[in-house]
Amino acid sequence: GTPFVAYRAGQLMLEDVALAELAQRHGTPLFVYSRAAMLGALAAYQRGLAGREALICYAMKANSTLAVLKVFADAGCGFDIVSGGELERVLAAGGVAGKIVFSGIGKTRAEIRRALEAGIRCFNVESLAELDVIDEVARACGRRAPISIRVNPNVDARTHPYISTGLKGNKFGIAHEQALAAYQHAARLTGLQVVGIDCHIGSQITEVAPYVEALDRVLDLVGAIEAAGIRIRHIDLGGGLGIDYAGDTPPAADALWAALLARLDARGYGDRALMIEPGRSLVGNAGLCLTEVLYLKPGEQKNFCIVDAAMNDLPRPALYEAFHRIVPLRQPAPGASATTYDVVGPVCESGDWLGRDRPLAVQPGEHLAVLSAGAYCMSMASNYNTRPRAAEVLVDGGEARVVRQREAVQDLWRGETA
Ligand code: LLP
Repeated sequence: GTPFVAYRAGQLMLEDVALAELAQRHGTPLFVYSRAAMLGALAAYQRGLAGREALICYAMKANSTLAVLKVFADAGCGFDIVSGGELERVLAAGGVAGKIVFSGIGKTRAEIRRALEAGIRCFNVESLAELDVIDEVARACGRRAPISIRVNPNVDARTHPYISTGLKGNKFGIAHEQALAAYQHAARLTGLQVVGIDCHIGSQITEVAPYVEALDRVLDLVGAIEAAGIRIRHIDLGGGLGIDYAGDTPPAADALWAALLARLDARGYGDRALMIEPGRSLVGNAGLCLTEVLYLKPGEQKNFCIVDAAMNDLPRPALYEAFHRIVPLRQPAPGASATTYDVVGPVCESGDWLGRDRPLAVQPGEHLAVLSAGAYCMSMASNYNTRPRAAEVLVDGGEARVVRQREAVQDLWRGETA
């Protein structure tokens, strides 16, 4: 997990803040994030890219809370966005338009126009039809749109099928075989300016090899595209590394870059500007979710530990059968007898579980922390079962600040008519 989460004097701490105190003061479910953990994760990428022309674009879909965005904006990051909503959100948080790349297969004309007016760094284009639409919108507003084509390198990222994106059968990017023709088409469109090439092979990748494989495939294309007279200024390798959820051992970001830079240099492309779009690895282990045990329900086949957080707050187990560590806020006494529970939420479907077969020594009224909950939890939260979304707290050393208030139940039907 993260060095910023630890028991001290029997209490689970995030940095220098006792989590039980936060749960008491702000209620649960409550997401809590460590600023130092985010900056520490970012530093590994920065070290790996030191001395190169590079831009780290935080993939804000992982966690788009304004205060989280501001941490990365203040640290000089760019952003990877996938919607007009994300564009407005990151600008509201102080993100710099000139450092934004816009990914996604379904950009609308309105989103494209707004991004052009804001002056984003690059559109990561995913189809021939999209090239034509961006060209048309750019000419209509008297601009040239900077573009990169997302090529599908047909590389197996060896991750969960739902978060694997760089294989032939995926809906993303332009096939390797069609990429050169797509670049030649783009170069003829006067509303476009070709600036780069990008790929993204998947998420929660825990090995270096798939990245190197993808880079090799991309560099083959750069050679062919430049031989056709089209200059590729930057290479964007898509999302970042996986994280340790359950004893996973992803490489450190600086080790990943050492391997990638060696390959770039060996192939004579060491002069290109580099980009990467990490999401999970910058925030995943910087956050956790506090929840209160409501009921213990022993059963014939299973014991259930029913908590006040649910699949609407933490959708990853329901969606991907993902594993998150779950630990009590009060450190169990050595030798305390634990019972094995399925930790489940109050939502009325069997998919609403947070952890299965977990040995826990807890009582109703006590609190648990669901770990590795900084990425793809709050940003995927919903209001299913008319459950207000949780509050969020940002920790910095010994300070803790509420950065998102708990949603009020009345907010949930704003805009509706009976
Ligand atoms: N760039 C692009 C174009 C992406 O599609 C993604 C993630 C990223 C960057 C960031 O990837 P990361 O560094 O976080 O691996 N909800 C799923 C993950 C979906 C990832 C989608 N794309 C989960 O909870 O596991």
